[in-house]
Amino acid sequence: MAQVVLENVYKSFQTGRGSKSGSDESAISPTAVLRRIHLTVRDGEFMVLVGPSGCGKSTLLRLIAGLEDVTAGNILVGDRLVNGLPPNQRDIAMVFQSYALYPHMTVYENLAFGLRRATTADTATDRNGRKRAVAIACASARIAPPVDLASTARTLPAWAEAVLVSATRSLPKRWRYLSAQEQAIAQRVQAVAQMLQIETLLERLPKQLSGGQKQRVALGRAMARNPQVFLMDEPLSNLDAKLRNETRAQIVSLQRTLGTTTIYVTHDQTEAMTMGDRIAVLNAGQIQQIATPLELYNRPANQFVAEFIGSPPMNFLPVQVQSPLLISHPKFRMTLPASWEPALRRYSGRALTLGIRPEHINISLPAPKNLSVRVKRLEALGSETYLTVGFTDGENGTLLQARVEPDRSVTLGDDLWLSLMPDKIHLFDPTTGEAIAEY
Ligand SMILES: Nc1ncnc2c1ncn2[C@@H]1O[C@H](COP(=O)(O)OP(=O)(O)OP(=O)(O)O)[C@@H](O)[C@H]1O
Ligand SMILES: [Mg+2]
Repeated sequence: MAQVVLENVYKSFQTGRGSKSGSDESAISPTAVLRRIHLTVRDGEFMVLVGPSGCGKSTLLRLIAGLEDVTAGNILVGDRLVNGLPPNQRDIAMVFQSYALYPHMTVYENLAFGLRRATTADTATDRNGRKRAVAIACASARIAPPVDLASTARTLPAWAEAVLVSATRSLPKRWRYLSAQEQAIAQRVQAVAQMLQIETLLERLPKQLSGGQKQRVALGRAMARNPQVFLMDEPLSNLDAKLRNETRAQIVSLQRTLGTTTIYVTHDQTEAMTMGDRIAVLNAGQIQQIATPLELYNRPANQFVAEFIGSPPMNFLPVQVQSPLLISHPKFRMTLPASWEPALRRYSGRALTLGIRPEHINISLPAPKNLSVRVKRLEALGSETYLTVGFTDGENGTLLQARVEPDRSVTLGDDLWLSLMPDKIHLFDPTTGEAIAEY
């Protein structure tokens, strides 16, 4: 296993094509798809890369995998600079959204394919202690560890084995000649199939599998190779909600067991929050923040992250800072906790954006600090109810979302007073969108 480091990586498609130089600044077009990417994924870490469609997530994975060249910057896997290395020398396995299984091959053949192609160096040497990791994983999953393909003793010369393998290929399975290498591959395939519970599917073709089963085969193919790094590009997006949840949990527990450094791309923030040790939020080709899920939720670095992480998203309202800790909005004014004082001193008299999550708004009583609103939409989910509200008098434009207890008897058109939890308020600079830190 290994850490993955991206140092000041840029990628432009138009002008950058063909540039392999790590310092060719002139090749960076102003419309670079990725800009100033600094990212360190620690050894064994599960890093989730999240962001809206088109922000550059797949491009970033493809750069790490070697399927695209960087325009500028460096990519290191372990302590090796891999910028110039072709994909098969990077010791990285990628799982795609589309599974990319070979349709004419059985599940067994799909799993074995990568192992046959792997060089002996790739699969045999105990580089960086990788085999040990798999041995531990297999032990905890109570399955046979993979066999070292290269060290398996050859009983016959390679050419003789090849002849025997090909001559007996069409015979019933028990009469077929299996070379020492094939036996080792069979053992590895069995071990991975057992881990993913697809042993009974090994003789099927991909078209005879459900979406979830295909996805597990695709994962198995990546795992069988025992790479230093897994890259996964929205591997669950073809699955229905229930299977998605199950497979999500399975991927997380497999990754914990194997301890393989993983970068997992999704545009689903729930997936990001539940899977990642840390999350990197990407927008328009730039990293906005890298932090643990709860840190992102509690201390978003800017308005983009604040809105992207959390569902339904955070509400935003324009406010004016009055002295000393008073903020005002045309419809309410409230006093902030004293901890804001040092940070807000230099914003006195200025306009800021207040952010409050739907779950931090309560139904309350009339008061100058509370918001007088009318219920415009109501979504009762059973376990909780979401209200969409607008200010009662005047101001039609602003809509806010609030999450309330399901047993609150609220109906459409009701007039309510809402209070904002003072210690859950976020403030942002309206010009830069940067969060103002509360200390
Ligand atoms: N080969 C290419 N040539 C030119 N532009 C490209 C190429 N590949 C991707 N792009 C552009 O780069 C940007 C990022 O694309 P990318 O596929 O990385 O986005 P993404 O974050 O993975 O989106 P999604 O969530 O929709 O998969 C997009 O604007 C896309 O049009
Ligand atoms: Mg993509």
